[in-house]
Amino acid sequence: MPRVLVTRPIPEAGLALLFPHVTVEMSPGPLQPGEIARRGEGCAGILCQLTDKIGADVLDLPGLRVVATMSVGTDHIDLAAARKRFVTVTNTPGCLTEATAELAFALILATARRLGEAERFLRAGRFKGWDPMLLQGQTIVGKRLGILGAGRIGQEVARMAKGFRMEVVYHSRLAEPEFEKECGARAVSKDELAATSDVVSIHTPLTAETKHLVDAAFLARMKPSAILVNTSRGPVVDEGALVDALRQNRIFAAGLDVFEGEPAVHPGLLELENAILLPHIASATVDTRNRMAVMAAENLLAVLGGRAAPNCVA
Ligand code: DGY
Repeated sequence: MPRVLVTRPIPEAGLALLFPHVTVEMSPGPLQPGEIARRGEGCAGILCQLTDKIGADVLDLPGLRVVATMSVGTDHIDLAAARKRFVTVTNTPGCLTEATAELAFALILATARRLGEAERFLRAGRFKGWDPMLLQGQTIVGKRLGILGAGRIGQEVARMAKGFRMEVVYHSRLAEPEFEKECGARAVSKDELAATSDVVSIHTPLTAETKHLVDAAFLARMKPSAILVNTSRGPVVDEGALVDALRQNRIFAAGLDVFEGEPAVHPGLLELENAILLPHIASATVDTRNRMAVMAAENLLAVLGGRAAPNCVA
């Protein structure tokens, strides 16, 4: 049976699919840079995570045929190098759309209504009774939502926003006429989106073009009452510029599930009451993670079995 490296434990549902067909070598925990290439020697496939850097050192492994990442994002994999070496790369699109959109929406509501700050206030014993001036946030119903990157997840956030009667504008690489019809969404320039949205929610993949898409100039255009939510990839936002904007209350709040130097978090963010910070948990529901593991295993087995990979990105 072909050997497969699973770079860290994954839900049982995915492993159960692999066991009858391949010999699984599973690392008990995350692998350090360099270790994947060492542990992957002799493997025909690698099932990896978004935290695993897959570069030429790994892709050069003799006999490697497939890298199946248990993520929709592929910015951790050198796709050009994979193509050059005829190593197939697959991802897990679709199955985490709803979970990620739910978390983006949770962050929208939590930042708008200052939930992190309010809970810390109460737990610190500072709640002395109802107060008309206490912890006033922003109303979300009827406000304008700006979607940066109207792919599957961005569109799902917009669908959820319709329940809050939000007006939706978007800025994306491609026009999305179906989405416009379904959600009444309107395509706008990046500058218009920044200047007029009450909530900006980021859903672009990380590429050379989207790195620091939200920079100091973008933040300077945003309304003082506006909220920024990022559930895509940290480097899409210039974190230093965001800290400055939040510190000076130039925007109302930010809700972040991802960070530029993940798992490190900019120390300035940690001090701010108007930032809600989560440890990259957007897809972390039991059923979503099961589906992601199953999909990654199915992709990997398809390639090793000589079938067309269902979710092939390289
Ligand atoms: C992905 O799959 O790329 C997500 O970031 C995981 O939550």
